[in-house]
Amino acid sequence: MKSLDDLEVAGRTVLVRTDLNVPLADSPDGKVITDDGRIRAAIPTLTHLREQGAKIIVVAHLGRPKGEVVTEMSLAPVAIRLGELLGTQVVLGIDITGPQAKAAAAKLQPGDILLLENIRFDNRETSKDRNERMGLAKELASLADVYVSEGFGVVHREQASVTEVATLLPNAAGRLVHKEASMFDVLLSEPARPYVVILGGSKVSDKLGVIGNLIDRVDRLLIGGGMAFTFLAALGHGVGDSLLETDQIPTVQGFIELAKARGVELLIPIDVVVADDFSATANVKVVDADQIPAGWKGLDIGPKTTALFASRIADAGTVVWNGPMGVFEMLPFAGGTRGVAEAMIASNAMSVVGGGDSAAAIRLLQLDEAAFSHISTGGGASLEFLEGKELPGLTVLEGK
Ligand code: 3PG
Repeated sequence: MKSLDDLEVAGRTVLVRTDLNVPLADSPDGKVITDDGRIRAAIPTLTHLREQGAKIIVVAHLGRPKGEVVTEMSLAPVAIRLGELLGTQVVLGIDITGPQAKAAAAKLQPGDILLLENIRFDNRETSKDRNERMGLAKELASLADVYVSEGFGVVHREQASVTEVATLLPNAAGRLVHKEASMFDVLLSEPARPYVVILGGSKVSDKLGVIGNLIDRVDRLLIGGGMAFTFLAALGHGVGDSLLETDQIPTVQGFIELAKARGVELLIPIDVVVADDFSATANVKVVDADQIPAGWKGLDIGPKTTALFASRIADAGTVVWNGPMGVFEMLPFAGGTRGVAEAMIASNAMSVVGGGDSAAAIRLLQLDEAAFSHISTGGGASLEFLEGKELPGLTVLEGK
């Protein structure tokens, strides 16, 4: 994989695929960005390209508009935030690869930035038909001289602006993709030990691939979040009204057996914060994990579990965390997620946070992002990397 420094970019037009898929909320003034982490993560590469005198065309998506122009999914608020962070004006190309965008691209001067409108407004971007994707890729490639892959969050997608376009132009990985890919390579090949993986989030079915791939590599597996209740049920405990994937119980029992056979320390909650409603104002109490009352639902790991997990993180060589321990968006159920994150910060381990909800939790709980070795920007991409799957957006870069 070539890096940014291998590319000659001065005076040339560089097409940069980024992942600027940020969460938006409604406000009286229109859409506002609630977490700009992904935009900030693209800044080092864009700044480098500007300093080198490149003319920059940024390609990005927002949400899943399914090939339709959906006004609420316009990149307009992203263009404004990107401009603020770079200290320059970012022009939005409103018709993707149409005449207006082409004219704006032709006018670019060294250091200028054009952000094309949501690439997923064009149905060829996500088409299953490679020829259709190639059609859009050719239009994108015709705007530029060089391609930089900087959207780590989309490298698991086979999409026109991620895979096909990279075959048409000299390409390289941007700073972020390079850093993320190197970090995840280490996690799969030579992690410092003890190697601790913490998994949470609502569904165990989303994490089967990760558990399957990591169970042979890790020393300790700590399970929290909604998915933990399927583990508790697999051990024969009642879980009240907690999240439960009954159809996954046999698979989870298989993992419990496998962990025993491989000598992997598998820890599941010993106590749970339960509530009588899915609400921040519900009645709340802490119970032992095998004593969840009927009609109550577990919404966070309990304090004894948090302390236990923290003790298993304290002496780790490597810690990877993917998925919150509870419903961290509501204060009464944020303790487990905060406790695990603080234990990672306190340890001397290489600490990696998977993207998506865990990265959002760090920012929402106002924890020090710089205290982690790495916070991934990729939700699905970081999971698929840990599952050991081939990521087409990286493979295509190796090919050049
Ligand atoms: C993400 O949010 O994980 C990335 O932007 C990819 O989005 P997608 O799952 O809609 O492809």
